[in-house]
Amino acid sequence: MTSILVTWWTGFIWSHTAVLLVQAWYDIVIFDNLSNSSKDVVHRIRSLTNKDIPFVEGDLRDADALDIVFTTYAIDAVIHFAWLKSVGVSCSEPFAYYENNVVWTLHLLRCMDMYDVRRMIFSSSATVYDASCEQAPFVESMRTGHTTNPYGTTKHIIEHILEDMVLRKHMHITALRYFNPIGWHPSGMLWEDPSDIPTNLLPVIMETVTWTRQSLEVFWDDYDTPDGTCLRDYIHVMDLAEAHVVALQALIENPSKKYTVYNVGTWKGTSVVEMINLVNTVVAPRSVAYDIAPRRDGDVAVSVADVSFIEKELWRKAQLTVQDGIQDAWRFRKSLII
Ligand code: WQD
Repeated sequence: MTSILVTWWTGFIWSHTAVLLVQAWYDIVIFDNLSNSSKDVVHRIRSLTNKDIPFVEGDLRDADALDIVFTTYAIDAVIHFAWLKSVGVSCSEPFAYYENNVVWTLHLLRCMDMYDVRRMIFSSSATVYDASCEQAPFVESMRTGHTTNPYGTTKHIIEHILEDMVLRKHMHITALRYFNPIGWHPSGMLWEDPSDIPTNLLPVIMETVTWTRQSLEVFWDDYDTPDGTCLRDYIHVMDLAEAHVVALQALIENPSKKYTVYNVGTWKGTSVVEMINLVNTVVAPRSVAYDIAPRRDGDVAVSVADVSFIEKELWRKAQLTVQDGIQDAWRFRKSLII
């Protein structure tokens, strides 16, 4: 049995991936500092998979906690999800982003090296592309860097660090450049559950639909796009989670794979206004109240993936649509208010 260490403390992709990993017969160990989530998610994963998955509470800064994990469990690979991930917040809190995303990843890599664990799946990001000179749809070979926000820069830096780890420390690493994950597990038992205030578009829209928030601020409508609002490539979290499982399998089965980068998206751009209109059809007679607000620091006009490489090498097309993601989100929000 192959044992996988899953580091986690933000977002919801890790929990969906964890369930699919167990269903694909991997043994997993979860490591988290609970800074932006609750242990309740671990209970829900255990109940969904019917497995007593080990959970170690700890921090990537804490060498002792990492030692415990690597000495207790025979880890074969790491899937590293422990990121701060808000483009907007990274502009106001760059120290936190560099420390959490870059410095702490180095701690993890050092520990992996010490315990001779050489395989990693890394959550990279669409934000690494240099949108000042490259045009979407983004292809993996396009230029990266000159990012518009510290979050993207942290991912860009780590991609370079990982290339060096492959070269100098004989690691085998696959970087998945995520576009915009949305949606929830069909069971209704997993959802995006950050303990801080949501900043991503769909969770914010859901808050306005349920009147937890007065209205949505649409961050400007004068971009060079068909309706003036930003275009994003929204991928359902179940599709994204599956991409991790397939990428891991390929990494384990193919030792000649050294460092590979894949976009994980859908090819399809949806604007903020289109997203609002789609939500309105799902939540009627409710609707999304919104105002046009100034541009958000760090935003680019268009971020859409060319996914031909991952589709050719590893994976079938994403199966679920933006509407599926909205329906999942609404099913969950509705269950909270009824
Ligand atoms: C989407 C669009 C906003 C909130 C994301 C992830 C990040 C990374 C890249 C993987 C933008 C607009 C949003 C609001 C709005 N993925 N918006 N009002 O910034 O594209 O970044 O993709 O690494 O993890 O966060 O996502 O959901 O914040 O914004 O108008 O209140 O919605 O301007 O155009 P973003 P988002």
